[in-house]
Amino acid sequence: MNLLRKKTVDQLTAEATPLKRTMTTFDLTMLGIGAIIGTGIFVLTGKGALTAGPALCLSFILAAICCGFAGLCYAEFAAMVPVSGSAYSYAYVAFGEIIAFIIGWDLILEYALQAATVSAGWSGYFVKLLDGFGIHLPTALTAAWGTTPGVTTWFNLPGFVIVLLITWLLSIGINQTRRANDAMVIVKLAIIVLFIVCTVWFVNPANWRPFSPYGVYTFQPGSTQPMGILPAASIVFFSFIGFDAVSSSAEETIEPNRTLPRGILYSLAISTVLYVVMTLIMTGVVKYTEFSRFVNAPVAGVILATGMNWLAVIVNLGALLGMTTVMLVQLYGQSRICYAMSRDGLFPRFFGEIHPRYRTPFKGTWFFGLLTAIAGGFININVLFELVNIGTLTAFIIVSAGVLWMRRTQPDAHRGFRAPWVPFTPICAIVFCLVLIAGLNWQTWVRFVVWFLIGMGVYFGYSRRRSKLGLGGGTGTDTAASTASAEPAVTTTTAPVGD
Ligand code: ALA
Repeated sequence: MNLLRKKTVDQLTAEATPLKRTMTTFDLTMLGIGAIIGTGIFVLTGKGALTAGPALCLSFILAAICCGFAGLCYAEFAAMVPVSGSAYSYAYVAFGEIIAFIIGWDLILEYALQAATVSAGWSGYFVKLLDGFGIHLPTALTAAWGTTPGVTTWFNLPGFVIVLLITWLLSIGINQTRRANDAMVIVKLAIIVLFIVCTVWFVNPANWRPFSPYGVYTFQPGSTQPMGILPAASIVFFSFIGFDAVSSSAEETIEPNRTLPRGILYSLAISTVLYVVMTLIMTGVVKYTEFSRFVNAPVAGVILATGMNWLAVIVNLGALLGMTTVMLVQLYGQSRICYAMSRDGLFPRFFGEIHPRYRTPFKGTWFFGLLTAIAGGFININVLFELVNIGTLTAFIIVSAGVLWMRRTQPDAHRGFRAPWVPFTPICAIVFCLVLIAGLNWQTWVRFVVWFLIGMGVYFGYSRRRSKLGLGGGTGTDTAASTASAEPAVTTTTAPVGD
């Protein structure tokens, strides 16, 4: 039994459908920002401010540094193995099947729960927007059970509906075009800049004192919830997730060795600057302790504290638009990971079957879309995003370790881009990821281990015996895969299809 059977770089490259190389640094930066800026800044800053106080801006910088190191490792792999499947494909080459399965399983959790988390954030802003127009949904149907302390909620109906709507769009093959993505990103950035310009005048420096009320890491008496800059970094790490969408476009990028790392680093840098400025303003306008009053929509809460109700409507709309694009990218990536795993025989054929008319993995898209909608409807956002963070941090660790391993075992493999300062860069990425995992709740670690064990059950009960690689058939021989070659939409993992 060879659990570490590997694909070669050539094998993977042969599976890829040649796509036109048209994406520039600008497109990649826009793609990155489109996938990055969403619920993290519009929703989780509330919890972040309660956890770290005004020092939340330092938490953002810590999380950004972690992502910067991991991003360089992603870029090296993406340029070396420029095919669909992102970290799943990289692991198949670097470590072999079982690790690839683990990471694929991990990515399914990550993408599905990311979309569920964002849908919960989306719902908070949607409800606020409706409130502004005098329309009030029953509170019990505005959030999952236990989301808001002291408020009885049962089910997140708006979040459930938006996920189903996006699933429907994806299942019939409607995807973002690059131009639509660029336009939506520009609107999102314009709204953030508008927020900054309009609210900066209301900053009261007294609100920044004490700057770091909980220090780096501490527990309050009687609480198991860690507080401080590090736990807040583990929370707002969510805000940076999505930049790996950039690396997934390696096949479509002009001069990937230059444009990929630039796209990743520029989108991270721009997001970091905006996040830091926004959080300084938010904690300067409203005392950090006050964020408990509007933890579901903190940016909207800060605007209302300034009395500029007109701005609240505009920013709410921008937040909704921004979060919708993030969900679209995530659910798209989710269905494509399932497709790739099904094509490789690690998941049943059902997930890879291509709809004859829409040319999309229709059933797989609906299966996970429904699960995501249900998860977003019933599960508390705080549980969801922590699971996403631990899943993503684990993927970063495996990718970074993969770079180290490939440099040792295949030093001469063609690398379109070489991460600088190896081994320093991947080692730093791994250390930072471990530090951020340490900042999460222990309950999250347990949930993640349970998910991992279920995955192992699936692998040993099903995937190991059905693996195309194990059966000696390579990949890409079934209906799903052969249809895929005619359907570029199923060949990229998280990148929206170019227009
Ligand atoms: N970074 C993305 C967001 O904040 C997942 O919504």
